[in-house]
Amino acid sequence: MIETKNIAARRETKTLQVASSISKMKEIAESLRRQNLTIGFVPTMGCLHGGHLRLIKKSLEFCDRTVVSIFVNPTQFGRDEDLDSYPRQLEDDIEKLEATAADILFHPGAEEMYPQNYKTHVQVQDISEYLCGKNRDGFFIGVATVVLKLFNIVRPHRAFFGEKDWQQLAVIEAMVEDLNLDVAVVRVPLVREPDGLAMSSRNRYLSPQQRQTALSLSRSLREARDNIRRGTTSAKVISDAIQRCLLEKEGCEIDYIAICDPESFRAKEQIRGRTLIAIAAKVGVARLIDNCIVEENECSE
Ligand code: PAJ
Repeated sequence: MIETKNIAARRETKTLQVASSISKMKEIAESLRRQNLTIGFVPTMGCLHGGHLRLIKKSLEFCDRTVVSIFVNPTQFGRDEDLDSYPRQLEDDIEKLEATAADILFHPGAEEMYPQNYKTHVQVQDISEYLCGKNRDGFFIGVATVVLKLFNIVRPHRAFFGEKDWQQLAVIEAMVEDLNLDVAVVRVPLVREPDGLAMSSRNRYLSPQQRQTALSLSRSLREARDNIRRGTTSAKVISDAIQRCLLEKEGCEIDYIAICDPESFRAKEQIRGRTLIAIAAKVGVARLIDNCIVEENECSE
């Protein structure tokens, strides 16, 4: 309660500082560190929604200053993906950031982040090869590379990531550990629309009819969890049921249904112990992902 009041008070007095160059952002970070202020960081690709705002709120709660980056990172888009059409709405985002009382927006240009002779990429092996890494060549290399660059520029004490992108979080945690980075990665639970749809910038690609189809992702996960609680242990039975639910309405193209260990991403045949159920599917042009964790005590012996 006290935190909420503080945020409200800060909102009235603060203005959002915008850094659109790397040197400016570094200067700000240096000055904050010199003043012994803790820097919270929320990296995003913009088109901000309630999921992003939840991360920002967490950062405001735990850190003295909150930096949000908006950068549509070209290196994490495949050749046939939606880099050019990815929604960009900076004015709107700035309004939202001002309303949340975030302190600093870092909004670099692609030419500065990746100049012509750019050569260095970060690869987190093994866990990048499953689920979203299987059919999206180089996706996690693009994510790890840009996040490491952003960490080096913003120099956060804590960085906030959403569990909606469960595998992305695992990749970043591995990178932070393996490269001995001085940043604490904070996990934030997945935020849903009231009807269950996982919030995503890509939801705005959906027509009203496609949105109804997209609801089958969260519905299939809810049903899967219910079936596991009722005693189903076969991953194949659960996976088949998810598939049926996704294909019930026309227009859903499944990329993967994974029932696996939440850390190693190895597939499970029997659902025992903590389990991640993750789905990726295309509805129209929108590639959507969703997931849920089934805890050990929800599974049968
Ligand atoms: P973006 O999709 O914009 O997401 C930015 C952050 O918001 C990520 O940590 C993501 O997990 C989180 N997020 C998105 N939707 C969410 C939801 N419904 N609930 C909770 N958190 C949610 O993820 C990226 O951008 C990029 O890959 C990035 C990390 C910025 C690197 O380019």
